[in-house]
Amino acid sequence: MQVVKQISEVRKIVKDWKRQGLTVGLVPTMGYLHEGHKSLIVRAVAENDRVVVSDFVNPTQFAPNEDYETYPRDIEADAKLCADAGASLIFNPEPEEMYDNALTSVNMTKITEVLCGKTRPTHFSGVCTVVSKLFNIVTPDRAYFGQKDAQQLCVIKKMVKDLNFDIEIVGCPIVRESDGLAKSSRNTYLNNAEREAALCLSRSLEKGKKLIEGGEESVEAVLDVIKTEINKEPLAKIDYAELVDLEDLSPLVKTKKPFLCAIAVYIGKTRLIDNFIME
Ligand code: PAF
Repeated sequence: MQVVKQISEVRKIVKDWKRQGLTVGLVPTMGYLHEGHKSLIVRAVAENDRVVVSDFVNPTQFAPNEDYETYPRDIEADAKLCADAGASLIFNPEPEEMYDNALTSVNMTKITEVLCGKTRPTHFSGVCTVVSKLFNIVTPDRAYFGQKDAQQLCVIKKMVKDLNFDIEIVGCPIVRESDGLAKSSRNTYLNNAEREAALCLSRSLEKGKKLIEGGEESVEAVLDVIKTEINKEPLAKIDYAELVDLEDLSPLVKTKKPFLCAIAVYIGKTRLIDNFIME
């Protein structure tokens, strides 16, 4: 498995694979890979002849006050995980290689303005731009995204439809620690007390889910239970807790499937997200 830094080199390698009639899967990541990423790579390896993992902390999806500089990076560990999972190539460009005085970006309205888009208004433009670029560089048959970033998955599916990318988008289930915390590279920011406090995210969602499974139809009642559970935790501060239509992310009054129940919570300074979907 090779680590490639140049766009031209990735293009050459992928063209050669395609000449041989091989299919290509892409797993876009920002590196510091964990079991969640590994599950995407393993799935991609099972469904494609060759798999490219992009490993790039994308500056354009971070606001100036966010954690771009401190976002954890470890390309050696990433390369080992990718090799173990059966990936063929890591694309690990420098920011200058990706954004060579670029003046173009990809912007989406409406579904990028709700949920995480409210506190991170420029985030999804950065995501759409970098993912479009990765799609154009790697030209994969399929691309794999985690359901933990449920809004991102929804945005990418819409972008692929709107811009006619000939790529199948595969959403993969959330991978959790044994105590329920959703795996995230940002979990490394948590100290011991915060790590314990962070369990309020999955716990509150479990409570909400149980209520719905028991027949509760009122979104207000479900969100009330979720928010009450989170608010019991002194280190937690809710950014949002919402239950929305799975396709257009509009708020629901009744728990009408398919829907997404998503939360974002600050644990100390670290903003964590989690969700469940009912289809
Ligand atoms: O989900 C992520 O890690 C990033 O948002 C992505 C899709 C790799 C784009 O930088």
